[in-house]
Amino acid sequence: MEPTSKIKHVAIIMDGNGRWAQGRCRPRVWGHVRGSSVVSEIVEEADDLGLEALTLYAFSTENWSRPQLEVTTLFGLLKKFLLKERQRILKNKICFKVIGDISSLPLATKNLIEKLELETKDFKGLKLSFAFGYGGRSEIVDAVNQIISKGDVEHITEDDLRMNLYRTDVNDVDLLIRTGGDQRVSNFLLWQIAYAELFFTRTKWPEFTKEEFRGIIYQVAGRERRFGNIDSVESFEVSKVLAQENLMKINQPLQAH
Ligand code: IPE
Ligand code: IPE
Ligand code: MG
Repeated sequence: MEPTSKIKHVAIIMDGNGRWAQGRCRPRVWGHVRGSSVVSEIVEEADDLGLEALTLYAFSTENWSRPQLEVTTLFGLLKKFLLKERQRILKNKICFKVIGDISSLPLATKNLIEKLELETKDFKGLKLSFAFGYGGRSEIVDAVNQIISKGDVEHITEDDLRMNLYRTDVNDVDLLIRTGGDQRVSNFLLWQIAYAELFFTRTKWPEFTKEEFRGIIYQVAGRERRFGNIDSVESFEVSKVLAQENLMKINQPLQAH
């Protein structure tokens, strides 16, 4: 079975740039520069593998608190990526979107994003999302506020919320990868990772390769995902009968014992 029949949406927390650079006695921003070239390679690999969606965490709402040089370097690298990858994105029919609050980005970068989103919005290839100025909590709060602004609401459903997230044309995350060795989700896609498989690698983002990426997907595709159910319907039926018998015993009047 093709791994992409089980793993359709991969999300990546691209972490470890700063430590990678510091470990080489270089400034942290050098790590971001090296890391940005890995992004192109991984996007290409995701496309070659036939993934439906790839969501990359590039800048979190919390990252605003970093030194200004680091923040502006990351802005610059986003712009460079957009300019460099534009032709490839168009050629490969990649449907591109930035998720997050980009209101503080320079106007020229915002225009590039808007143009590329518009040009690619009907493309049927890989759904590529860049999470920039992104926070999972903000996304949920924004969704709720959007629902409220649409009119009188007293009750909302999961579907209402889902339909008001930043990107509604992608399904939940199947696999969340974090590079850099830490094992946390750092406010990324909190709603969408409810049932994601998690994979943490020690490899720092600038050293992450398409071979490791492919290897992780193949490895995780072999895991059993149960979504709250159990491994086979047959044993499910058996345990249902056992549970009913147990319940009957529990419910027997006390004097019967
Ligand atoms: C990830 O690398 C990139 C961003 C958060 C923008 P870091 O900059 O967090 O690198 P480390 O984790 O400090 O090594
Ligand atoms: C998460 O990495 C954000 C991105 C990779 C863009 P951080 O380095 O900001 O996360 P923490 O601070 O280790 O949780
Ligand atoms: Mg980090």
